[in-house]
Amino acid sequence: MTTLPHPIPYQGSKRALAARISRFVPDEIETWFEPFAGSAAMSLWAARHRSPRRIVLCDVLEPLTRLWVEIIERPFDLADRYQTIWSGQAADDPDYFNRVRERFNAGGDPVDLLYLLCRCVKNAVRFNARGQFTQSVDKRRLGMRPDKMRDAVTGASALLKGRTELRSGDWLASLHDAGPDDFIYLDPPYHGTSTGRDRRYADGLARDMLIDGLHALNARRLRFALSYDGLSGERSYGPPLPAELKLTQHLLPAGRSSQATLNGRTEDTVESLYLTPGLAEQPTAPLRVAQVSLPL
Ligand SMILES: C[S@@+](CC[C@H](N)C(=O)[O-])C[C@H]1O[C@@H](n2cnc3c(N)ncnc32)[C@H](O)[C@@H]1O
Repeated sequence: MTTLPHPIPYQGSKRALAARISRFVPDEIETWFEPFAGSAAMSLWAARHRSPRRIVLCDVLEPLTRLWVEIIERPFDLADRYQTIWSGQAADDPDYFNRVRERFNAGGDPVDLLYLLCRCVKNAVRFNARGQFTQSVDKRRLGMRPDKMRDAVTGASALLKGRTELRSGDWLASLHDAGPDDFIYLDPPYHGTSTGRDRRYADGLARDMLIDGLHALNARRLRFALSYDGLSGERSYGPPLPAELKLTQHLLPAGRSSQATLNGRTEDTVESLYLTPGLAEQPTAPLRVAQVSLPL
């Protein structure tokens, strides 16, 4: 099996966890929704391993959704333009990144955003209150090489073209036409990482608004899986979701904590996946899972 194409390097990508999450994804899906798309790792997985008639991607970050449109509809033009931007940089010119960043903040060109994401610290989007990209350059690397990017964008386009719709805005509004034959994969920003000074993503998402939204999805009898919180060593990233939601929580091993490693510690992380009733594990893909509550 060939590896899945991943054109957008993105902190928080579910690329490494896709195989584990996929065991809970039903076989029959009319429309696949990913309303917190980011780099859309699970949608790329679904496009390859399930056959949804339609795929709907949404993100509150509008230039990111425009980048997806370019990847899907004009992959060769995009690859050419990325090559031009990437080739313009020199290892001894750290200011090049800042010039592209200024240009992106003035014009919002999605190809500039792709370059910035490839070269910035931890591939992590950071925006200030005025919506300007503020993340700094990672001086130790040059970002994805153009030949690799070309393969990734053409591969992603081949998987998504002709059946994918992009929506920009709030996650819940993007699900207005979801129905019981559809499947929704939700991966909101971690509780606690998107508010305050460290605004990891463009827009924070308050926990109570997320919970209200999940109740609304339940009332519509929609099927969904939600990656929400996690645990690294002794540290929980957030309290469990309320029992009234009637979701089943599974803990998925998510590898070593890179932050702990940086701080000289060895810590394993686990991530929660909450499922609506009836999303049983696929019988053909056995996996041992723990069903426990995270400590408060
Ligand atoms: C944890 S990341 C998703 C990562 C994704 N699963 C992947 O594989 O790359 C969360 C995403 O949600 C977006 N987001 C934050 N608040 C949102 C909202 N209210 N509605 C829609 N998207 C939102 C952020 O811009 C970010 O791209």
